[in-house]
Amino acid sequence: MPKYHALIPAAGSGSRMSGEMPKQYLMLHDRPLLYHAVERLLSHPQIGHVLIVLAPGDQRFTVIDWGPYSQRIAPLYCGGATRAASVFNGLLVASDAIDADDWVMVHDAARPCLAAAALARLVETLQDDETGGLLAMPVVDTLKRADSGERVTETVPRDALWRAQTPQMFRYGVLLEALRNADLRHTTDEAHAVERLGLKPRLVLGDERNLKVTYPEDLRLAELMLESLGKQE
Ligand code: CTP
Ligand code: MG
Repeated sequence: MPKYHALIPAAGSGSRMSGEMPKQYLMLHDRPLLYHAVERLLSHPQIGHVLIVLAPGDQRFTVIDWGPYSQRIAPLYCGGATRAASVFNGLLVASDAIDADDWVMVHDAARPCLAAAALARLVETLQDDETGGLLAMPVVDTLKRADSGERVTETVPRDALWRAQTPQMFRYGVLLEALRNADLRHTTDEAHAVERLGLKPRLVLGDERNLKVTYPEDLRLAELMLESLGKQE
């Protein structure tokens, strides 16, 4: 039976939040974003522990009260220059503990509102899959392409377009090979690297609440999403 490993890249600086504190450490309902991301993953029965990739020299991680999760998290101080580099470094550092056929689930620290049902759907849909896949949402808005003056040049058909979320789940061997061959500066998610191998990751319906906190106004939204999850679960 392949095992499941979760990995959270948490080595970013959160530049679009334009604050001092990297966003993974901003508080949401009295807990850092990173804490919520860990808690959501560990709520799944198949996920025993979470590897957390941190920036070398990170001083904030150890100060957090990890409570019931303290024995189920492993900080790896090997973050890189981009998200993809952080994930790749983490996978390399953890190689002794992971088999090629094991599943690795990569989830953003900046997504604290992952619904249990979406996570369960991802694991269940992919358990016998050859390639793996990701949570994603079908695009519902009409899409416009703009010129440099922000004038519409084209309406882009939205059929078959999806917005990628995380977690993204692939076999360790596949993911490692994909990232080894990828341009880590321009690879914004794991699926992109896997696609470059000629494979077709499976899209699994995500949840609109699984937003990535990116701009300051997203924090309030995330608070509302967490409340909504709490009422539902
Ligand atoms: N991340 C990482 N290493 C990097 C850059 C990003 O581990 N060098 C992580 C972030 O900590 C976050 C996830 O990748 O959990 C998604 O990235 P993003 O939302 O872009 O976060 P930041 O890069 O921190 O934010 P920004 O792009 O606004 O600077
Ligand atoms: Mg970034």
